[in-house]
Amino acid sequence: MDPAGSPSLDEPSLAHRQLLQERFGLPDFRGRQYEVIARLLRGRDVLALLPTGSGKSLCYQFPALLGHELTLVVSPLIALMRDQERRLQQLGIEGRALCSGQSREERQAILARLPEPGFKVLLLSPERVMSAGFLERLCAVLAGRRKVGLLVIDEAHCVAEWGAQFRPVYRRLGELRQRFPGAPLLAMTASADAGVRAELLRILAMPADATVLAGFDRPELFYRVACTSTPARAALAFLQHHHPGASTILYCRRRWQTQVMARYLCANGVAAQPYHAGLPADRRAHAESWFLRTQGAVMAATIAFGMGIDKPDVRLVVHLGPSASMAAYYQESGRAGRDGRPADALLLVPAQPTAGCGPDGRTAGGSCGEAMQAYLETRGCRRAALLAAFDETLQAPCAGCDHCRPDWHPPPLLRETRAPWVPHPHAAERAQAPAAGQDRGAPGRTRTGMSKLVRF
Ligand SMILES: Nc1ncnc2c1ncn2[C@@H]1O[C@H](COP(=O)(O)OP(=O)(O)OP(=O)(O)O)[C@@H](O)[C@H]1O
Ligand SMILES: [Mg+2]
Ligand SMILES: [Zn+2]
Repeated sequence: MDPAGSPSLDEPSLAHRQLLQERFGLPDFRGRQYEVIARLLRGRDVLALLPTGSGKSLCYQFPALLGHELTLVVSPLIALMRDQERRLQQLGIEGRALCSGQSREERQAILARLPEPGFKVLLLSPERVMSAGFLERLCAVLAGRRKVGLLVIDEAHCVAEWGAQFRPVYRRLGELRQRFPGAPLLAMTASADAGVRAELLRILAMPADATVLAGFDRPELFYRVACTSTPARAALAFLQHHHPGASTILYCRRRWQTQVMARYLCANGVAAQPYHAGLPADRRAHAESWFLRTQGAVMAATIAFGMGIDKPDVRLVVHLGPSASMAAYYQESGRAGRDGRPADALLLVPAQPTAGCGPDGRTAGGSCGEAMQAYLETRGCRRAALLAAFDETLQAPCAGCDHCRPDWHPPPLLRETRAPWVPHPHAAERAQAPAAGQDRGAPGRTRTGMSKLVRF
């Protein structure tokens, strides 16, 4: 695939460094990015498990530029495809998304360009790739003129984690291998525990040594949990005190809440817009592009917003209530600090006991995952609790969480109180036997084993 031959897995060649600088404007590869790229250039499959915001997209953009063949990228959301398309345009890489909302003529014009060597990347939803006759049509368009050189599955955890309910079609993506047997497969995700990783390898028929695991820690993020009976005031206070004028995502549990929060913030002089799946497509697209280009914009959104969205300068992600799972919380909070500078992930716990945990009411009546509950209730380091959900142990000292940083002084509106959070059934056991290495002796614990949460 690489005209320069087999690259070293460790050391980028001079030519590759130059390409990175000239085309991507970046001084060096980050983390294990180059290892992923080098393996692909050798024609090997890769399951890339790299943290949120670490630059997984570059792992396919870079090889796409080098080769003469076509790169196919499967991506779960239109908004994400649009975001990638915009990025490709900025980089001067020819690529298009084929998605709903386009006219038949527009789609045909995109397909007609596929045989051109200058056209590098085609972005597709899994539903389209797997729709009846699509792959036959794609092969017919390319027939004899051009090959598919790289297959990419972005947000690959959808294969395993949500496969049954959310995107059953992701589970069929292994069929792509049979259709394009010569092309290496790159599956990328920022959240997969050991079970999910094993399932991914199995469903996508990848060899066991395909995994490149960089660890999921995001040292630039400071994790906090606080309890409040006035979430709107609390979110506004935190924003104004810690991050005045900063781009922020505020995750709400319900659609109506996004509207209420956006209005409340605007009334208090903060530029905010609502975003949820019930809004018309053009309003969503407008809100999204407003957020991406506006410094200091606040998006009050349900979880319909944000997967893979790359706004580097988001300084704060606030959650009004826990996410449906720890993996979901990691993904959502991971939208902060993508430029590598310090950022905050604040989770506001409702002061009233509540039945459902998931934002947008997705798990109303149920309870959020055990790992998420452990994160809320932990007596030790939040970061350690978060990483434990991915079967990872915190290697370096915690870079910042509300339990590990005694130097953190809450803003004037905060005061400590006992958390009226519904105790998890196993909370008492955890209190008696805290996980090894996790209890850093933070002050102020309740008898249920929950920490005393900060209250607004
Ligand atoms: N080598 C690098 N050095 C510095 N910045 C980089 C590097 N590679 C990528 N980036 C930047 O990192 C940011 C995040 O990239 P990207 O959107 O690909 O992250 P991601 O890993 O896909 O995150 P997510 O899991 O949330 O989808 C982008 O702004 C990108 O320009
Ligand atoms: Mg991404
Ligand atoms: Zn910590």
